[in-house]
Amino acid sequence: MTDIQTIKTKPYLDQKPGTSGLRKRVSVFQQEHYLANFVQSIFDTLPQLSGGKLVLGGDGRYFNDEAVQIILSIATANGVAEVILGKNAILSTPAVSHLIRKYDCDGGFVLSASHNPAGENGDFGIKFNIQNGGSAPTSITDAIYARSQIIAEYKTTHGAIDVSIIGSQQLGDMIVTVIDPVTDFAELMEKLFDFRSIRNHLKTDFTLAFDALHAVTGPYAEEIFGKRLGAPTEHLFNTTPLPDFGGGHPDPNPVYAKPLFDLMYSDKAASLGAASDGDGDRYIVLGPNIYVSPSDSLAIIAANAHLTPGCADGVKGVARSMPTSRAVDEVAKQLSIPSFETPTGWKYFCNLLDAGQITICGEESAGTSSDHIREKDGIWAILMWLNIIAVRGETVEDIVHSHWKKFGRHYYTRHDYEGVETSRAETVMASLRNRLSELSGQSWHGETVTSADSFSYTDPVDGSVAENQGLRVFFESGSRFVMRLSGTGTQGATLRLYLEAYAAADDDHTRDVSDATAALAQIADELTDLKVTLHRDAPTVIS
Ligand code: G1P
Ligand code: ZN
Repeated sequence: MTDIQTIKTKPYLDQKPGTSGLRKRVSVFQQEHYLANFVQSIFDTLPQLSGGKLVLGGDGRYFNDEAVQIILSIATANGVAEVILGKNAILSTPAVSHLIRKYDCDGGFVLSASHNPAGENGDFGIKFNIQNGGSAPTSITDAIYARSQIIAEYKTTHGAIDVSIIGSQQLGDMIVTVIDPVTDFAELMEKLFDFRSIRNHLKTDFTLAFDALHAVTGPYAEEIFGKRLGAPTEHLFNTTPLPDFGGGHPDPNPVYAKPLFDLMYSDKAASLGAASDGDGDRYIVLGPNIYVSPSDSLAIIAANAHLTPGCADGVKGVARSMPTSRAVDEVAKQLSIPSFETPTGWKYFCNLLDAGQITICGEESAGTSSDHIREKDGIWAILMWLNIIAVRGETVEDIVHSHWKKFGRHYYTRHDYEGVETSRAETVMASLRNRLSELSGQSWHGETVTSADSFSYTDPVDGSVAENQGLRVFFESGSRFVMRLSGTGTQGATLRLYLEAYAAADDDHTRDVSDATAALAQIADELTDLKVTLHRDAPTVIS
C-alpha cells in the first residue's frame, strides 16, 4: 500500500502554461511546493490518470533529477499504476511522444525548457502530453491552470527511485520501469528510413557532422548516427548531456550553433552539417557554405519524403504554422494535396495528424515532423535529409537549388527582439493592429499592401477557434511580414518579426536573404516605430 501524505499548500498564481508547457526560472520551480502544486493540478484535472500508465523523462537540465522524484511521489500517491522512466531521467521530447504511443500510455511528462539556458540560474520546464503523444490541448492546460489557482493540498509519499538502473522498481503500489532512453526510438527510426542506403552512403566520401550542443540528443546521435549508421564519432560533437548544457544555449541557429556554422562555412565542411535543440524536437541542416532555412527544409522534405520507406505511400497533406514561409504551400499545390495554416505551436497540428489529414508538418522555428509521433522531431528530420541525399546522390546545395527552380524561392528571415519590456512590445503590436484596416493599397519602398489582418484559426477537425495569433501584412509582390509575441520566453517579452520575400521559379534566387528582405524590415519598422519603442538598435537574434 502506498503510504499517502496529504500536504497543505497555497496556490501560486503564475502557473499558466505557455506555447510549450510551464517554463520558469529554476529558482521559481525551487519555491516550496511549486512543482508539486502544478503536478497535483494535472492529476486533479485528469482523474482518469489514476490507475493509468505514464511516461516520464527530460532533457537532463538542472533540477531534472529532483523534479523526477517529486513527480513520481505525487504520481503514486494519486494512484498511477505504472511509469515508464528514461534511464537517468533522460528522454527527448520526440521519444516521450513515441513511448506514449507505443506502450499505450495515458500520457507523459516532458521535463524541459527546450533551448532556454539551463543550470542553477537557467530555466526549467514541464509539459504534459496526452494519450495521442501530443501536448495537452489548450482546453486541458487552461483547466490545469484554473486548478492551480485554487489548489489547497497535494498528495505525495516517501521514497525514491534509483533512476540509473534499468528494470522495474516499486514506489508504493506503482511500478516504475526504467528503460534505455534511445532503444525504442532508434527502432522506430529504422522502420521509417532506409538505414542500409544511408550507411552505404556514409561509406563514400559523404560525411555527416552533428552537434548535440550538450543537450538531450547526444545519446540518440551516438546510437543512431554513430553505431547504427557508422558515422565516425569524431564528427559527433558535444554528445554528453550536461545539467547546464555546458553553459551553452542549445538553440540550433547561426548565433547559438556558431561552431557548426563556422565548420560548415570552412574548407573542412562536412557534406551535411546538423544540430538539434535542448530537448531534441528541433534541428537545422547545412551543406558546405549553405544553410537550409527551416521553412525550405520543410518544403524540401515534403517534396521528397516519398523517397523514404516511412512515406513510401506519398504525402496526404501538409501543414505549417502561420509565420512559417509559404514554400511548403507551393509543394502542396504541385502535388495536389491539401495544405493547412495553423497558429504557432505544435499542438495545433495534432488534430490534423490524428484525423489523417496530413503526413508532414513544420514550423519556421526549426521543427519538422510527420505522423509517426505527435511532436516535432529533430533526429527524424536529419535522417530524412540523410535518406533523401542517399537516394538522390546529390549535394545539399543541388537539392536546395533545384527545389527553388521548380517551386520558387521564399527568402526568409526571423528577427527576434528578446527580453524587451512587455509594455513596449505590446505598444508595438497595438500600433500595427490599430492600422491593419487602413494598410491595403498603401505603398512603401516599392511594396504595395494587398491585405493585412490578425490571424485567427478555426480547427477543421474540432471547430475550436484560436484568435489573435499574430499580425500579417501581405504585399502585391507575393512578399509578407508577420509580427507576434512569443509565448515561450521567461524574461520580459520577445517580439518576433518574420520577413518573407518571394521570388518565382524563374526569378533570381541568388540574392542575400538580408538584402531580399531589407525593404520588408524597413516597412515594419516605419509602420510601428519598432526600434525606437523597444529601445533596440537591432534584433537580438536573426535566424
Ligand atoms: C517558439 C516557436 C514555435 C514553437 C515553440 C515551442 O514559440 O516560435 O514555433 O512551437 O517555440 O518550441 P514562441 O516563442 O514563438 O511562442
Ligand atoms: Zn525544443
